[in-house]
Amino acid sequence: MPLHDSTITAGPIPERYARGWHCLGPALKFKDGKPHTVDAFGTRLVVFQGEDGKLNALDAWCPHMGGDLSHGRIEGSTVVCPFHGWSFGPDGDLKNIPYCKRLPRKARVGKWHTDEINEGLFVWHDHDGGDPIPGQSLPRLEQCYSAEWSDVRWAQWTININNRELVDNIADFGHFDTVHGSPPVYFANLFEGHKASQLQVGTSERLSGTDPLLTVATYFGPACLFVEMSGAFGDHRIESLLLTCNTPITKNSFIINYGVAVKRVPGLTKAENQSLIDTYVRLAQEALTQDVEIWDNKRRIDNPVLCEMDGPIYQARKWYDQFFVPVSEVSEESTRVQTYEMDISGGSIRKPVIRHLR
Ligand code: FES
Ligand SMILES: [Fe+2]
Repeated sequence: MPLHDSTITAGPIPERYARGWHCLGPALKFKDGKPHTVDAFGTRLVVFQGEDGKLNALDAWCPHMGGDLSHGRIEGSTVVCPFHGWSFGPDGDLKNIPYCKRLPRKARVGKWHTDEINEGLFVWHDHDGGDPIPGQSLPRLEQCYSAEWSDVRWAQWTININNRELVDNIADFGHFDTVHGSPPVYFANLFEGHKASQLQVGTSERLSGTDPLLTVATYFGPACLFVEMSGAFGDHRIESLLLTCNTPITKNSFIINYGVAVKRVPGLTKAENQSLIDTYVRLAQEALTQDVEIWDNKRRIDNPVLCEMDGPIYQARKWYDQFFVPVSEVSEESTRVQTYEMDISGGSIRKPVIRHLR
């Protein structure tokens, strides 16, 4: 193999999965009285609704003889293993064995912290078993609770690559024109603690006709990107919300749970709004499909050769690193406030790149 200065290198994928809140899908999907199988973080979870209405997520592998609780059934607020009928409560403790009075004291399954918010179900993952970090809770987005907005419409993709590929996108200025046909006219990134934001004024025929499309996209932790967009659609201003959430299945695959909500346009009839929302959601899903196609057909690269008009890819990865070390080892470098703004004028690129504003 010929070696040269830009020979691609890629170290091993981190041993641990990222620490933070991860979406398992639309909350409603889990509320049908059945146990649900969720493959994530290299293991299997069972998700079910208890009698109190709350959603519970437990490790699915039964400690008795390894049965799959997610293939069992729900009884009251417990999930019953299909193998020998042991049942486990929302706290993960063993509650009953149908053929034995005395319960082995150590029999329990792991319980995951859950948060049902913005019409999604989220779980907290920490390799070291830590509780959710209070300053990193997910924001409640009013759009998801307002009658002026549509419900969140969810779609799901499975991608066969490590999920860092998707997170790179937060700083990837260069792909917007090539992949989406929507070159930005303004582009900036802000990194701050566990959050990373992208501010963009773009042009997207698909999502905004000839009007500018404004997007403010923020990662709240490693896996939940909440995007507020405002653009034109026909004769109307359209405001939308995109929830782009990645959850690792294994080190080399992840799920995207993608939710789209649209603000109803005042003055339109219910039916008109419905058809506009349907169309808009479909177009927003198509736009993500364009990224999916790329992720499905690329490789991991640790030493991307960047040009001066590329966004702060290395800085985004430094920010992302904080989720892969114990809390006590998170570096100041990966959490400090940093702002980058691309220098673009008149839609064409004039001068070198990223200005470091701080
Ligand atoms: S393996 Fe679950 S009850 Fe036996
Ligand atoms: Fe993209």
